[in-house]
Amino acid sequence: MTTVRKAVFPVAGLGTRFLPATKAVPKEVLPLVDRPLIQYAIDEAREAGITDFIFVTAKGKSALEDYFDSAPELVRALEEKNKPDLLELIKPAEMPSGAISYLRQQEALGLGHAVWCARHLVGDEPFAVILPDDVIQGEVGCLKQMVEAHDEMGGCIVAAMEVGPESISSYGVIDPASDDGRLVEMRGMVEKPKAADAPSNLAVIGRYILSPRVMKNLSVIKPGANGEIQLTDAIAQEIKIGRPVHGLRFRGERFDCGSKLGYLQATVAFALNRAEFRADMAAFLKKTAAKL
Ligand code: G1P
Repeated sequence: MTTVRKAVFPVAGLGTRFLPATKAVPKEVLPLVDRPLIQYAIDEAREAGITDFIFVTAKGKSALEDYFDSAPELVRALEEKNKPDLLELIKPAEMPSGAISYLRQQEALGLGHAVWCARHLVGDEPFAVILPDDVIQGEVGCLKQMVEAHDEMGGCIVAAMEVGPESISSYGVIDPASDDGRLVEMRGMVEKPKAADAPSNLAVIGRYILSPRVMKNLSVIKPGANGEIQLTDAIAQEIKIGRPVHGLRFRGERFDCGSKLGYLQATVAFALNRAEFRADMAAFLKKTAAKL
């Protein structure tokens, strides 16, 4: 059993599904209630024991880097105004020196390529990949559940969720060999298949724990779906050479916050989950629904 200490956050995307907001603001800093999307991903990673955070960014993402920077003027102003509660709120964005690294993906060649850009920082140890668009609400963080599954099974673990035929072609899809209701042993994985060709209704969601060999696979694979270097293909390569790859049906609800509808749904769900908003938000929703 090897501890998973490092997580790669591919955040180089243009966020085109969220224009016009993302013309000037990286989607990862859009707020869900009052915290940027990226903060949820970082908190989930910390809960899972991650200590090294590797961001694969691109031009136009400086707001994301600033969010994790120290803010001495803000801290001073809040101290002078005696606002300990507000100081508490900015604490989760504090990172120990050296815990966070940024590198740039110069060309948008696909998710697999973005992850591969982090190969030297990851080195020769298992690592996590978190796509911050996928926000997962649940009692125990999805990545923590995956680290536990990795302790049991080794190899690679991907987060898995059932989706309907109308949306299956948006995902990496699992070809199951066996399924105990929690862990799905894989025979293969295919990126964005047509609904008619999908090997199952089990989609891969943006959480992965990967063997360092996946980086080696990424060095040699050819572009796949949409002409991009696909992470799915590099993981599927592991299965081909007989290494274990499992899907974990995680406990929790996933929201696709890269899409406008998913983001709106997440906003409602996360607001209802907060004691200070719950009653008022529920009353507002009931009143609004009654008018439909
Ligand atoms: C990526 C992956 C895909 C996965 C999805 C989950 O696709 O390539 O396998 O199912 O994330 O959100 P994207 O959403 O970047 O097109």
